[in-house]
Amino acid sequence: MTQSQFTPRVFSGIKPSGGLTLGNYLGAIKRFVGMQGAMETMYCVVDLHAITVWQDPKELSHATREVAAGYLAAGLDPSQSILFNQSRVSAHAELGWIFNCVARVGWMNRMTQFKDKAGSNAEKVSLGLYAYPSLMAADILLYHATQVPVGEDQKQHVELTRDIAAKFNHDYKTDFFPMTEPVIDGPATRVMNLRDGSKKMSKSGESDMERINMRDGADLIAKKFKKAKTDPEPLPDTLDGLKGRPEARNLVDIYAALSDTTSEAVITEYAGAGWGRFKPALADLAVDRLAPISDEMTRLMDDPAEIDRILADGAERARKIAEPILSRTYEIVGLLR
Ligand code: TYM
Repeated sequence: MTQSQFTPRVFSGIKPSGGLTLGNYLGAIKRFVGMQGAMETMYCVVDLHAITVWQDPKELSHATREVAAGYLAAGLDPSQSILFNQSRVSAHAELGWIFNCVARVGWMNRMTQFKDKAGSNAEKVSLGLYAYPSLMAADILLYHATQVPVGEDQKQHVELTRDIAAKFNHDYKTDFFPMTEPVIDGPATRVMNLRDGSKKMSKSGESDMERINMRDGADLIAKKFKKAKTDPEPLPDTLDGLKGRPEARNLVDIYAALSDTTSEAVITEYAGAGWGRFKPALADLAVDRLAPISDEMTRLMDDPAEIDRILADGAERARKIAEPILSRTYEIVGLLR
């Protein structure tokens, strides 16, 4: 197969560990919705990835449904996208093992996210956390996905997916796996921490004031933006004027992503504005966009059986795509079936 013969297919996923943040929404979910309809789209709740760090079993089930509710509330439609949770399709773990035997230890050692997460504790983290990027490659390549929308922090993992595909193809003299493209576009592919513009906004940051959670109420969102770190300068009239002002740049980018425009357009609109004007406008915009999603998530979470039904149905459809690809992989490797 040449690369152009792979059917365009989108795959992406979110870990159900803790709640969803504005970073997950702008860097991932909102962009997932934008790709829906244009081609085949598959969005997964990657529960097997979540347990690379211990999760309370009850909370894991809850968080899995909550990510699914976030998908649905933000506009993913199970009749247009395949929505499912990873552990329901055992082929992810099976292909993950094959890729553990393809990927090299040296490649894993270069993964910056592992280094950040493991820190000085690298000897004590789970083996799963270390092997995680090879399972992520399996998630993607199990469906021969050609495009993977992710935030900036996942770019290295998608590049590793390409390395694994290339090494597999080379080692087995085949062109079975595609060279997947990461899709990292728009103004908010790296939403930063509200208290420190050099760090990514994440669900696991120390203080809740550093992030906006999808389920935060209007008052809390307003308070968090009001207290967000900035500098004393007003907004400049060009984006260049935001160089060296990471906190200011972050708020402008968030505004742009929430209002479906560019950061340039926001700067033009707010040139010369002080934070006393910009922050309340940003908070109003965020509440306007997030409150309906959060309300809908609450409604959906009241009927967990319906979420489970949607995920089970999506898993059945996912399995139909995965099974022939896994079977062929086993055959290529020489495993008797
Ligand atoms: P996870 O669960 O950490 O994050 C899910 C998605 O949200 C994006 N994201 C952000 N984007 C912009 N700014 C931020 N502050 C921010 N925080 C998170 C992430 O880039 C990601 O797109 N390994 C993945 C999950 C995964 C996956 C996959 C993704 C597993 N298998 C296959 C794509 C394809 C992860 O931990 O994402």
